[in-house]
Amino acid sequence: MKPVAVAHQPLTLTDQVLALRAWRMPDMITYQHGTDEWWLTPLDDALPLIRLNRAGLELLTAMDGHMTVGELLGRFGKWVCGPDGQNGCWHLERWSLPNYSLCYYGTEPPAGGHRLNIKWDLLLQQIREGWSGRQGFEGGEHLVQFHTRDIAQHEGHFDTIETTVSHLFREPSEALQGLTYGRLLAKHLRRLGWWETKLRTLVEVGGGLGYVSRELAAELSPAERGGLRYVFLDLTPPFVKAQLKLAATAGWRCSGTQANAEWLPLRDASVDLVIDNENLADMTPVNLSRGELETGKGRTPVHQEAIDWIRRIRLPFDPNLPDEFVFNLGPVRFLAELWRVLKPGGRAILIEFGVETGWPEPVKLPGHTEYEVQYTHMRHAAKWLGFQEQYSALPKFLMIKPDTQVLCTGAAYAIQRFCQAMGKPFAIRAYTEKELAQALGPMLPKLSGCHYHAVSDPAWFGLWDFKVMVLEKPGAAPKPAFKETQGFRWYTQR
Ligand SMILES: C[S@@+](CC[C@H](N)C(=O)[O-])C[C@H]1O[C@@H](n2cnc3c(N)ncnc32)[C@H](O)[C@@H]1O
Repeated sequence: MKPVAVAHQPLTLTDQVLALRAWRMPDMITYQHGTDEWWLTPLDDALPLIRLNRAGLELLTAMDGHMTVGELLGRFGKWVCGPDGQNGCWHLERWSLPNYSLCYYGTEPPAGGHRLNIKWDLLLQQIREGWSGRQGFEGGEHLVQFHTRDIAQHEGHFDTIETTVSHLFREPSEALQGLTYGRLLAKHLRRLGWWETKLRTLVEVGGGLGYVSRELAAELSPAERGGLRYVFLDLTPPFVKAQLKLAATAGWRCSGTQANAEWLPLRDASVDLVIDNENLADMTPVNLSRGELETGKGRTPVHQEAIDWIRRIRLPFDPNLPDEFVFNLGPVRFLAELWRVLKPGGRAILIEFGVETGWPEPVKLPGHTEYEVQYTHMRHAAKWLGFQEQYSALPKFLMIKPDTQVLCTGAAYAIQRFCQAMGKPFAIRAYTEKELAQALGPMLPKLSGCHYHAVSDPAWFGLWDFKVMVLEKPGAAPKPAFKETQGFRWYTQR
């Protein structure tokens, strides 16, 4: 389910508004659909595309921070500005509204300063945040309800509701040396020795549409895969279905169940490997008060559980605790479950965005709010449980070249809307310029405003906020100090 944005009444063009200057959104994507027809995308997907004729395009071009709304109204107000018949006044009354977000009216450019410093992204972020509907902390059952009740289908979910790193790189990408995310992950897990021993059970928790499983199947040799069963656990029923379909087509012996990662339906010490990709921020957050922590008394059973965890594992806290703070209870429960279900020597990889200092902040997405993972707490909990642990930033772990230029995700969404209007497919991905040209063919020269960011640029996807925790439960039987190949034993020198 995608929430509908708050509907705004058209702006009244009062004398005060008419005196303001107008700036069009920088880096805006326009598509020339015909000799005298250009298309724009309002920020809110529920609104139809804006179609402009040449007069409309001139109105847009004139919004360069020099002209006031009044001057624009005088020049374009009564002219029909598009094939849909609306005049310039109609557009001037709407384009600056949050759900259009095509321009900004003010006395100074937004955030002031040089054009390059205009914080449009932040402005848009604020608008998106307003869309989640609810104010304040959204914990409790909110995330479970969203996944179990509100997601009715998987089609388009990762394009428009929550795009993930692995979704952006689900097809081979120049930015990943021609590999997919899943394939690169499998190679780096090989580097860590994950595929060396005979494995029986790999569990993927929160596998989305199943692309990681497909790519693992492609990377692993028949010998590495032989005897291995792939088990999917996911809270969202349509995703489990999609995962099973893709994994079976890729050749996995697989099974899947709807389950919550915080209570794994698995026997103790029964699993060799666990993959959990971009799922921790979906697990239960708890909004604790300083008073609760100081007295050790939680106001609900869930709060009490969080406090008990914090005290039990002696989580070191800054003495300057805020009055209220968020604790990642769900991810800590998940760690404890991993400790229970992994075999001695079993391993898990956990990947998600998060912070190392301070407190988890909400990240508002359409229909639900996720919470950053506090990795200092997670690492402390993992070590307390007994795990051996390695930790890294995701791009460093996957050795992603930081300067590869990829299409702005906002531009990809706009192009997808144009293509939808023409009944053409267009997938949301991290396109390099060459890949975009291949995907769009003759449509590309008709687009203007396509812009690219280095993958390391926080304005692109915040890739450096994604972290990797690799966990190993000690106690595996000692490995032989030799490898056997074609009847020969190769001894390692110690
Ligand atoms: C952000 S998506 C990531 C999907 C996929 N791994 C990817 O990287 O594209 C989160 C996934 O975790 C699942 N999920 C969310 N909360 C969960 C929970 N508490 N237990 C199990 N699965 C959960 C969602 O249904 C979804 O498949």
